[in-house]
Amino acid sequence: MLRIQVLHGPNLNLLGTREQSIYGTQSLDALDSAISKLAKELSVKVDLRQSNSEGELVTWIQKARSKYDGIIINPAAYTHTSIAIRDAIAAVGLPTVEVHLSNIHQREEFRHRSHIAGVAIGQICGLGPTGYLLALRGLHDHLTTSLREKKTAAPATSRRTARGTRALRSRSIDRVQSEGSIE
Ligand code: DQA
Repeated sequence: MLRIQVLHGPNLNLLGTREQSIYGTQSLDALDSAISKLAKELSVKVDLRQSNSEGELVTWIQKARSKYDGIIINPAAYTHTSIAIRDAIAAVGLPTVEVHLSNIHQREEFRHRSHIAGVAIGQICGLGPTGYLLALRGLHDHLTTSLREKKTAAPATSRRTARGTRALRSRSIDRVQSEGSIE
């Protein structure tokens, strides 16, 4: 079963009451329930956490290395400031999808820059809570495809080796036959 860590950054605990015209009316609990429901349908184990602290998010990303196959993160305001979160994602090397409820590229200029995008496999923004569900589907597809590729990589190598062995064998048969014909 695939395991995905979902992390929400600062102020996302206020969803539902916070700047509703930008972030909508859905609470974080309702959002987490929708993510968990889809995870169940996809047979993915999810762990969902929110923190207002940059250090705590960094620690959770570091710990995810041994426990999870991928990360979905809305780093919220840390998106635009945190080299530490970027470095943590790069360090663990887990496929990571960056999510934002609002379209950060349409908002104030300081939100246009993401320190996370460069280490993420993709970024989804502007689609509200649906963005998290798309991120889950996208990361699930990404992980199942790379697992499948890893599984087929080994037999492909042995097929190549088998072909190589057959070719070698038939070359030596040719040699024997041609040596035979010399005699
Ligand atoms: C956000 C966008 C950020 O710029 C902002 O600081 C947030 C939320 C979003 O989900 O749209 O807190 O990440």
